[in-house]
Amino acid sequence: MLGLLSLYIKGYGARNSFGQLGNEIDLMTAAMSRFSTKRIDESRILELGFGQRPFRLFALQSLGYDASGIDLDAPMYRPIIRQAQQIFTKNGIYRCAKTVFRYIAFDHHQYRWLDLFLRSRGATLRPSLSRLLVGDLADDEVWQRAGGVFDLLYSFDVMEHIPRNDLDRVLSHMFNHMNLDSVAFVAPVIFTGITGGHELGWYPHQVDQGYIERGPAWGHLTGESKGADTFLNEMTAADFRAAFSKYFDIVEEHCLYGRLGAQYLTGDRRAAIPSQFDDDELFSNRIVFVLKKKPLERSDM
Ligand SMILES: C[S@@+](CC[C@H](N)C(=O)[O-])C[C@H]1O[C@@H](n2cnc3c(N)ncnc32)[C@H](O)[C@@H]1O
Repeated sequence: MLGLLSLYIKGYGARNSFGQLGNEIDLMTAAMSRFSTKRIDESRILELGFGQRPFRLFALQSLGYDASGIDLDAPMYRPIIRQAQQIFTKNGIYRCAKTVFRYIAFDHHQYRWLDLFLRSRGATLRPSLSRLLVGDLADDEVWQRAGGVFDLLYSFDVMEHIPRNDLDRVLSHMFNHMNLDSVAFVAPVIFTGITGGHELGWYPHQVDQGYIERGPAWGHLTGESKGADTFLNEMTAADFRAAFSKYFDIVEEHCLYGRLGAQYLTGDRRAAIPSQFDDDELFSNRIVFVLKKKPLERSDM
């Protein structure tokens, strides 16, 4: 909890992070214009794993787009006691306390900043909570509720949390809910990057700062770091490429953080890291994969 608090105070999710959200929306808008006949504002959009603070999804909805989402958990938006009780029952006291604390201390302000960001684009914050579906992306049932074909599917920081066997089912559901004109925009955190272990001190904006106590760089690849407090499927960039390629053509890759942490890759660190991880892997971090459905029949899959 203290690490998380420190991370927020040092600026995680700060006001200017809505500039990044704007960049992400612009990237998706541009990808639609390159790879689909539909513009983003005439697309049916689905976010996979919208998270506890669904800023992207709320932003798209507020801009007037036809956007819905799926996540294992409902977000804590303007929390009420009943919602807190549900989180307590389902996820336990730690996650409940974390969520309530985060809303009171930070989220409230962030929704005001999100509203300011939207005003700069001619809109105001108007989330449509009924379009946030709760369910497991690997299950048929939630996809049936979502229904039909989507023109744009996107996810950020989600695929690395899905067990590998389930991931194949998630990708096959995506495939079944796309047509050949659809675009998927998928940005997992790659395990082999310096940020891939999900250690607070090695979060992207912490890499050059070091405010938070942390293990050695890439320590999650050498066994020197203590594990993440969340499930990780430990997939490399090569693993994701192979998993996506079963159903999709990867038409673009955007490596968002360049050579983040290059200053920590000293000769000693290089020698400690297993040699199968080359520079492409060690500097992968967060890759945006732009995917188009392969013209496959179900029997080919
Ligand atoms: C690290 S958060 C990212 C949230 C959001 N995309 C963001 O960028 O802030 C990962 C999210 O993925 C969701 N998630 C993980 N596995 C899932 C699954 N099998 N089905 C649905 N959601 C899942 C989690 O509940 C969590 O909200």
